[in-house]
Amino acid sequence: MIVVLTGAGISAESGLGTFRNVGGLWSQYDLEDVATPQGHARDPRLVLDFYNARRDGARAAAPNPAHHALARLTQARDDVLLVTQNIDDLHERAGARDVVHMHGEIMRALCGACGHRWPAPERMAPTDTCPACAAPATRPDVVWFGEMPHHLDRIAEALDRASLFVAIGTSGSVYPAAGFVAEADAAGAETLELNLEPSDTAGAFDAGRYGPASEIVPAWVDDLLGR
Ligand code: NAD
Ligand code: APR
Repeated sequence: MIVVLTGAGISAESGLGTFRNVGGLWSQYDLEDVATPQGHARDPRLVLDFYNARRDGARAAAPNPAHHALARLTQARDDVLLVTQNIDDLHERAGARDVVHMHGEIMRALCGACGHRWPAPERMAPTDTCPACAAPATRPDVVWFGEMPHHLDRIAEALDRASLFVAIGTSGSVYPAAGFVAEADAAGAETLELNLEPSDTAGAFDAGRYGPASEIVPAWVDDLLGR
């Protein structure tokens, strides 16, 4: 079993901002205002407009060679679990199969009242109502700080069976994703970090390759597939 975890860095060369690099999203916005349930309760329009802008960016972006390389890997092998912290759909648009979005998906909307999910409209507004229960409780289908990420049981089960864990384009600064390398290591997996520069958890990995994802990820997939 190969478990691949991606973060904002894999989408950086597609033009989507990361969070903690210089000029990242958390230097432009206070995450407490736009990425927490409390922020949404205080000012739903601010939060919905923050995600409307990120959805516009994601729609305008195109997958880069790193996304295409991982799609090729998921098509070539059936023992790969691709987990992403990203809420964009660039992995899917590159052709990756069965992408596990642990922080949700910006292209979907969620009803906070009944849990119904549907494709997000162009622009979400606080006056929107749920198409299933009509409650005025719609929100982007993303996981905010303080909320429980999705699919943790499936991810833990895959890490327990992993022979290889690879983290790509993530700073290793937010849990539980930052703890996956330790779980994989405890299960006896080889661990590899592919990033622009060593992350906060670089020391926990057996090896690292550093540089732009659009260059180092295709090279790593080619090595793995023996091309
Ligand atoms: P955490 O403890 O894992 O990490 C960050 C904590 O530090 C947060 O509580 C945050 O409020 C605080 N913080 C303050 N300033 C920060 C900054 N500049 N950068 C980073 N953190 C800062 O967060 P958590 O509350 O345990 O989150 C629970 C889950 O929600 C995690 O899995 C997280 O990845 C996820 N999440 C998703 C999004 C999103 O936009 N999809 C945003 C935030 C968190
Ligand atoms: N190629 C490879 N790595 C890159 C590139 C690139 N072109 N550009 C940036 N990076 C690396 C940075 O060096 C950094 O280590 O990607 C990482 C991005 O880290 P963050 O901005 O912290 O993004 P991420 O790790 O995905 O954040 C985790 O925090 O706010 C929450 O839910 C949000 O999913 C996000 C989570």
